[in-house]
Amino acid sequence: MSIQWGIAGPGRISRTIASEFAAVEGAEVVAVGSRSAERARAFASEFGIPHAHGGYEALVADPDVDAVYIATPNAQHFPLALAAIGAGKAVLVEKSMCCQDEHVRQLIRAAGERRAFLMEGMWTRFLPAVRAAHQAVESGSIGRVRALQGDLFAHRDFDPADRLFAPELGGGSMLDLGVYALHFAQDFLGTPSSMQCTGRCYDNGVDADVALQLRYGDGSFAQLCCSLAGHGPARMTIAGTEGFIEIGPRFHHPSRIIVRIPGNEPQVISEPFEGSGYRLELQSVTDAIAAGATEHELVPLADSLAVARTMTQALDQFGYRPHDQLTL
Ligand SMILES: NC(=O)c1ccc[n+]([C@@H]2O[C@H](COP(=O)([O-])OP(=O)(O)OC[C@H]3O[C@@H](n4cnc5c(N)ncnc54)[C@H](OP(=O)(O)O)[C@@H]3O)[C@@H](O)[C@H]2O)c1
Repeated sequence: MSIQWGIAGPGRISRTIASEFAAVEGAEVVAVGSRSAERARAFASEFGIPHAHGGYEALVADPDVDAVYIATPNAQHFPLALAAIGAGKAVLVEKSMCCQDEHVRQLIRAAGERRAFLMEGMWTRFLPAVRAAHQAVESGSIGRVRALQGDLFAHRDFDPADRLFAPELGGGSMLDLGVYALHFAQDFLGTPSSMQCTGRCYDNGVDADVALQLRYGDGSFAQLCCSLAGHGPARMTIAGTEGFIEIGPRFHHPSRIIVRIPGNEPQVISEPFEGSGYRLELQSVTDAIAAGATEHELVPLADSLAVARTMTQALDQFGYRPHDQLTL
């Protein structure tokens, strides 16, 4: 029996995801929801989706939908995911899971009460190059991990109406880009014990760029930065006592890593992925839902909460408190 998916939000990433689903076994996209019936119908007809809903309530109420993929602006993730969980659906919610850590906590509680599957769409963790980096660390080849350094820059022209910049839609570099760097650090170093940050906001109060310094209980540290206002390589380095690993660039969808041990030839590990890379996440999540799981071991809910906590603390320092407030 296949898992029947509904897509919430016929936007940019949903177009890629709808195409990627064609390569996923045991999954079928049966519905799409939009604020506009016309946009839902156009998306449905383009991707051969049987049900088109002109409203998000109708999508989450669709009895043929087992699982909802949420790709609306960040500020709408919380109310939409809560409604989908309440309707008994499994939920894959795009990054960032919510704009505030308190709402991530509430989603986790709601999913726990309903025994519903919930995961943040941190697809990077499913990519073979990232799995290879884990294997290299676990093999001990670079010794004990002492630090991570990484950047994720993606220059975009400022447009206050775009979801990337609008405070009411949960815009900003942290929730759009920094979340990848923080998840990467969470994946390899765990939850930080302290955080310092600095940054700059646009005139509308939304963060343009952020630099973070994280400390961990064992004395290791991470230096991470993100920006919507500049260009950058999107490198990530995992530094250990015996050597280091370069991931990417770009580290959030790498197809190779290089393991460098002083005195040895660099070891280049190529791990290309098919399509846009999202199918690995979609396949693994579909399989987990089919198996009755309530969360995914590669993107644990505790990690989403820890990352959200750091982001909320950092944005609080800039006086930017994006609200999870868009109604359905
Ligand atoms: N995993 C990844 O690689 C990746 C990449 C890009 C984006 N994302 C995430 O996916 C989400 C969507 O990003 P996107 O780039 O696809 O955004 P987008 O192109 O702006 O699409 C967002 C969709 O949300 C719907 N929406 C509902 N309420 C809205 C509102 N008040 N204002 C604007 N749109 C609204 C819109 O559809 P209707 O107007 O038809 O309802 C729109 O098509 C974000 O959370 C983002 O962080 C993830």
